[in-house]
Amino acid sequence: MARATSTYVCQSCGAQSRQFFGRCPSCGSWNSLVEQTAPAADTRRRRPVAVAAEGAMPPQARRSEPIQAVGERPLQRLQSGYGELDRVLGGGLVPGSLVLLGGDPGIGKSTLLLQSAQAMARRHSVLYVSAEESAQQVKLRWRRLAEQQPPGTAEADGQGDGEAVGLQLLSETDLELVLQELEALRPAVAVIDSIQALHDGELGSAPGSVAQVRECAAALARIAKRQDTALLLVGHVTKEGLLAGPKVLEHLVDAVLTFEGDRFASHRLLRAVKNRFGATHELGVFEMRGQGLAEVLNPSELFLGSDEPSAGTATIVACEGTRPLVVDLQALVSTTSYASPRRTATGIGTNRLHQILAVLEKHLGLPLSRFDCYLAVAGGLEVEEPAADLGVAAAVVASYRDLTLPPGTVLIGELGLGGQLRPVSQLEQRLQEAARLGFRRAVVPRGSGLGRLAASLELQLLEAGGVAEALVQALGVNPAQGD
Ligand code: TYD
Ligand code: MG
Repeated sequence: MARATSTYVCQSCGAQSRQFFGRCPSCGSWNSLVEQTAPAADTRRRRPVAVAAEGAMPPQARRSEPIQAVGERPLQRLQSGYGELDRVLGGGLVPGSLVLLGGDPGIGKSTLLLQSAQAMARRHSVLYVSAEESAQQVKLRWRRLAEQQPPGTAEADGQGDGEAVGLQLLSETDLELVLQELEALRPAVAVIDSIQALHDGELGSAPGSVAQVRECAAALARIAKRQDTALLLVGHVTKEGLLAGPKVLEHLVDAVLTFEGDRFASHRLLRAVKNRFGATHELGVFEMRGQGLAEVLNPSELFLGSDEPSAGTATIVACEGTRPLVVDLQALVSTTSYASPRRTATGIGTNRLHQILAVLEKHLGLPLSRFDCYLAVAGGLEVEEPAADLGVAAAVVASYRDLTLPPGTVLIGELGLGGQLRPVSQLEQRLQEAARLGFRRAVVPRGSGLGRLAASLELQLLEAGGVAEALVQALGVNPAQGD
């Protein structure tokens, strides 16, 4: 028998080396190498190998075919019980696919998947593998959650009693036993909570290490593809905010969803960062209640401050995927007492804020470099798109001049470095969402061609070519005058 050998595996990027380093030579992370003893080659379990040896296949056994001849099967999708989750998945869960759900501890991953498993179990066989909690713990939670069904599941099919028909529960951490159960049950859907807690006894490393996570996920993936089981894997986020074994898992799975939210607020945001079966950047919004997670069907209402309009507040329409969200921004501009002024932004990139301040200083002549500037997006939302620029500029100028924007106004537009207002995508949907929420004025880039739509929405459309003009339209006074 060959001797067991030691390798050092980086827990951040998965790189292997024979030697220990304090810093990973591949990704540069510090203290990330962990010793791993691989069992000698001949004692390892043989995993099926799909690729035939070179030259072994006779010519008539060729497997490729012209792309036109490949049969098309419409993608079937299982409804998860949550419209919000289905949309982020691209319309539902695809049989045989692997979905990784990542998020901070305590954010609600187990709750989301247990509720969804319960809903899916009304029509399909579902296996819920809990590797972190005992069957008793899961049962307790399930009891509590059963009182609140995701919308559109319980009453719709005449089973309002809260009992899931095909939900099987397994509390197990041994990969081998989980695989056996999957083979025996052949469920349509299986939830693995969590992939880091599973353990392959044949590997020398500790549960949660890169090698374990990779091996467990790969073994699960093989079986899922073979028997068309849709797999939902829960993945933990490390201290640095990365999914453990991130690169390794992201390549392996079909979709990566992240569940995030403010620990101090009740709403949770679900996003797809990778999706082989749909668009990414879709957003699902949930609210954590006493009885589990509920969908938020009107998320704009979450991100609109309920207070009276005040100086320094502006409203924008951000687009998350295909979904427009009306969001409040607040700015505070005050004389600085530091050598270099402070700029702090929550929910918007600081570089973006710096750029907008520079444009305002240059093109409106406002001496903003002598002022501190703080900016915050309501509701803890992260707004990445430049369509928020005009709103940021308006909030800053309104705070600087101590002006209040007329109520019912939304601002949409990207700022160029030359002070010009650039067109944004999906303006039509943004205006519709603003009108639906009762907004009556919209300041947008010139040349939108949406005059008729705005009229039909009873929305006053104010078009502007540059930032100065847009702010005059929005505020009703010229912010550049008055120093
Ligand atoms: P959980 O799903 O266990 O989080 P994760 O699996 O991501 O670690 O959710 C835990 C939190 O959710 C916990 O702090 C309590 C809260 N919670 C509720 O507020 N209401 C509920 O009905 C449930 C089940 C949990
Ligand atoms: Mg959990």
